[in-house]
Amino acid sequence: MSAAMRILLLGGTSEATALARLVAEDTRFEPVLSLAGRTSAPAAAPVTTRIGGFGGVDGLAHFLAEEKIAAVVDATHPFAARISANAAAARRMVGVPLLALARPPWQRQPGDSWTEVADMAGAAAALGGKPARVFLTIGRQELAAFAAAPQHHYVVRSIEPAEGLLASATLIRARGPFAVEDEMALMQREAIDVVVSKNAGGRATEAKIIAARNLGLPVVMVRRPDRPDVPTVETAEAALAWLIARHRSASVPSPLAGEG
Ligand SMILES: NC(=O)c1ccc[n+]([C@@H]2O[C@H](COP(=O)([O-])OP(=O)(O)OC[C@H]3O[C@@H](n4cnc5c(N)ncnc54)[C@H](OP(=O)(O)O)[C@@H]3O)[C@@H](O)[C@H]2O)c1
Repeated sequence: MSAAMRILLLGGTSEATALARLVAEDTRFEPVLSLAGRTSAPAAAPVTTRIGGFGGVDGLAHFLAEEKIAAVVDATHPFAARISANAAAARRMVGVPLLALARPPWQRQPGDSWTEVADMAGAAAALGGKPARVFLTIGRQELAAFAAAPQHHYVVRSIEPAEGLLASATLIRARGPFAVEDEMALMQREAIDVVVSKNAGGRATEAKIIAARNLGLPVVMVRRPDRPDVPTVETAEAALAWLIARHRSASVPSPLAGEG
């Protein structure tokens, strides 16, 4: 039997946790899940987990070589652009196969009233001058962009505390998944005029988009940042199939082995 293949899962998403569960019991793989350490109580994963940055591209390349990683799955959030760029660059330096696991973006449906913008500054500007009650579901890291639009009251929902970042704000701490009825009730209770969302895609947080559609509320939708051009799959199962294929090709002796 061939040795277990060491793999690195770049995580921080439900897809990464799902893939970790799939490989955990599979003796073909020896996985390491890597988290940035942004959330104080990350979802439990049944595999070896390391937490914290690698120290840029060089640090990641060093980690891949040092840990003898034979394949990397970048299952980070579609808005985590830096780590994905770093993974693509480190892959080129070390020559390790890299797959991206990314859920597809949400698509505009009939009844949606979306204003698509490129970034958070664009989202703050798109809210306009007239004071509004804004449901901000973008996490806490980029809230500062909305300090430029202090005429609005923000209802901020985040996993980690977001105190002190915006002058006029109602703070709600919660982690998805959320139900459509609960999202509609929240939007009505808070008299929301407009929703701001990243186009994260996926089921866990889609309810707010459906709720806005049902209530006829406009959504300011932040488009995804560009990601490196690497092979991409949309599900943990497809990523597992890719890993199994990598394992198989690493286990099959080359027809040229032993020649020359
Ligand atoms: N951005 C979002 O909206 C969002 C939403 C949900 C979950 N997340 C998760 O939260 C994490 C941070 O997101 P971000 O937007 O701050 O990322 P980012 O801007 O792409 O990354 C910033 C730095 O954080 C470190 N890092 C990011 N992901 C890492 C990982 N999985 N393991 C080890 N180090 C990691 C890297 O530091 P070094 O350069 O030192 O290696 C990276 O350069 C990601 O893992 C992502 O999957 C992000």
